[in-house]
Amino acid sequence: MDKLFSKFQLGPLTLTNRMVMAPMTRNRAFGTVPNDLHVAYYTQRASAGLIVTEATQVTPEGVGYPNTPGIHTEQQAAAWREVTASVHSAGGRIFLQLWHVGRISHPSLQPGGQLPVAPSAVRPEGGTYTYQGFQEFVTPRALELEEIPGVVAQYAHGARLAKEAGFDGVEIHGANGYLIDQFLRDGTNHRTDAYGGTLQKRARFLLEVTEAVAGVWGADRVGLRLSPTSGFNSMSDSNPEATFTYAASALNRFGLAYLHIIDPVAESNRVAPALRAAFRNPFIVNGGYDRETGEAALAGGEADLVAYGVPFLANPDLPHRYRHNLELNAPDRATFYTGKDNGYIDYPAAAAAHA
Ligand SMILES: Cc1cc2nc3c(=O)[nH]c(=O)nc-3n(C[C@H](O)[C@H](O)[C@H](O)COP(=O)(O)O)c2cc1C
Repeated sequence: MDKLFSKFQLGPLTLTNRMVMAPMTRNRAFGTVPNDLHVAYYTQRASAGLIVTEATQVTPEGVGYPNTPGIHTEQQAAAWREVTASVHSAGGRIFLQLWHVGRISHPSLQPGGQLPVAPSAVRPEGGTYTYQGFQEFVTPRALELEEIPGVVAQYAHGARLAKEAGFDGVEIHGANGYLIDQFLRDGTNHRTDAYGGTLQKRARFLLEVTEAVAGVWGADRVGLRLSPTSGFNSMSDSNPEATFTYAASALNRFGLAYLHIIDPVAESNRVAPALRAAFRNPFIVNGGYDRETGEAALAGGEADLVAYGVPFLANPDLPHRYRHNLELNAPDRATFYTGKDNGYIDYPAAAAAHA
């Protein structure tokens, strides 16, 4: 019996299989509000054991790209409610990913054209896509010590609105070089106060956000995503294994729904095994998995669940295809971050593809 297709008890939720749809930004929330396209896209993918939505900013200062959805207004929450109701009526489970990009923003995306905020004034290399096209990153403004509780409160506010919107839980985005990750890693955190210096202090922001969000939802409906070795968004750390093993063990105090680790299956120096050993609750792996490597990760006890990104993007019925060893649709990379229904809700299900 394949473990991928077996049930899993995730806190209070019984998942119908162990395949998680990884969070994926798709830039189709015009005006930061989800729409009918989102309802169709997520409902088509409701056979995932668990869907994690695209990253969703908890505040207007947390935005880093055009047309990403928010979860800081009642209007956004009401729009997300349409998504959750539809996914639930199709038998699915769905968590919202809570996001603040920190320095990976641009004044043209910020309220009042202000500088993006970050733990320290360290400019990322490269640039980002804005409504005016590609622009170089700027040097962000380091958050004042007194401002940090207010940013933690923004995550809690997003968590409350996600609850109103009918989600089954939330995933805190601590990965991929965004604000929480900027605090965690020493390449971007040069603070000398209570939020920087030692690895304990670098993890403090993450732990405070987790505590605040768990206070809203109960920890068994809160997951966290980390990407210990990713250099995306010009990230670095002098000792990823120490930094992230510390974070994983410090998180044990909460009793979270899960820890979700991006650690590509093809990498030779993987840190997921050390984090799996340090963390007591359910563990999700992600990064280049397919049917075979995902099944092997479960069978070998490396993880409890496997998250699939691009395979779910291109195959709305991925569990069905894996179960019956059907061919996969090819992903269209040109429409990953742009378009409307094209490349979004027009990937056929297998029956239609093979009709
Ligand atoms: C189009 C696209 C958008 C993504 N957006 C997000 C995001 O919003 N949040 C996040 O944590 N990761 C995001 N990722 C990373 C994926 O969740 C996943 O880690 C990555 O695709 C590797 O998994 P895969 O090999 O199964 O696709 C994105 C990836 C893609 C391809």
